[in-house]
Amino acid sequence: MKSTELNGLLFDKVSFSWANGTRVIDQCSFSIKKNGLWMLVGKNGSGKSTLFRLISRVITPQSGKIFCSLKPSLMFQNPDHQLLMPTCKSELMLCVPKTFALNEMSDVIHSAMEKVDLGEMLDRPIHTLSGGQKQRLALAGALVSNSNLLLLDEPTALLDPESQNSVLKVVRKLTASSSNPITAIWVTHRLEELFFCDGAAILENRSISDWKPGSEVFQQLKSLAVR
Ligand SMILES: Nc1ncnc2c1ncn2[C@@H]1O[C@H](COP(=O)(O)OP(=O)(O)O)[C@@H](O)[C@H]1O
Ligand SMILES: [Mg+2]
Repeated sequence: MKSTELNGLLFDKVSFSWANGTRVIDQCSFSIKKNGLWMLVGKNGSGKSTLFRLISRVITPQSGKIFCSLKPSLMFQNPDHQLLMPTCKSELMLCVPKTFALNEMSDVIHSAMEKVDLGEMLDRPIHTLSGGQKQRLALAGALVSNSNLLLLDEPTALLDPESQNSVLKVVRKLTASSSNPITAIWVTHRLEELFFCDGAAILENRSISDWKPGSEVFQQLKSLAVR
């Protein structure tokens, strides 16, 4: 397939080894052609974060091809590692493309804050936000930077259940939006989150399984755990 024909993300027999020779991804092929919330599970060290680095082109594969028509944005477990500024507004000002005029910037920032349920918090110092609010601010940053592929690397791992739900709810809302569809790939160890996705896959043996309903992957992993 030519890259111009693809709307979404496609891995075609991608292989990647780190400099020490460890092969982490091997002949991996998969695609995501529809917006939605796609979840990825796999043991520690199975290569999930490496896969995100490949998608966002921080690293390049030794062989195979990656086509991506979407603009990716990475988000990590700990929001303190990616929020840099003193207030929500100044943080988002950093993310707005420089092509916007000042008055447009303000509209874009307001709209993104509304979309992540932080409408009233524009002038709040970031250090006063809860973990869930910080993660949603990081999501707003991705939105104002015009990203339409969210790469969420265990975004709820450090959050309490209430904050966890607030992030999941917002990501679901964004990925289900008909006007401005977003694609999200969400790495999780919290298997109960699988019930909220549009499809789930397992990263094992250096490759990704087919996308299946989240409930099916949940059952598959639970039955392995009790054996
Ligand atoms: N920067 C790096 N340099 C060398 N090896 C790495 C690097 N990052 C990850 N690895 C190795 O790649 C493998 C997969 O790691 P990672 O992608 O972080 O897995 P996961 O996110 O699934 O826990 C591990 O063996 C890890 O040690
Ligand atoms: Mg990881």
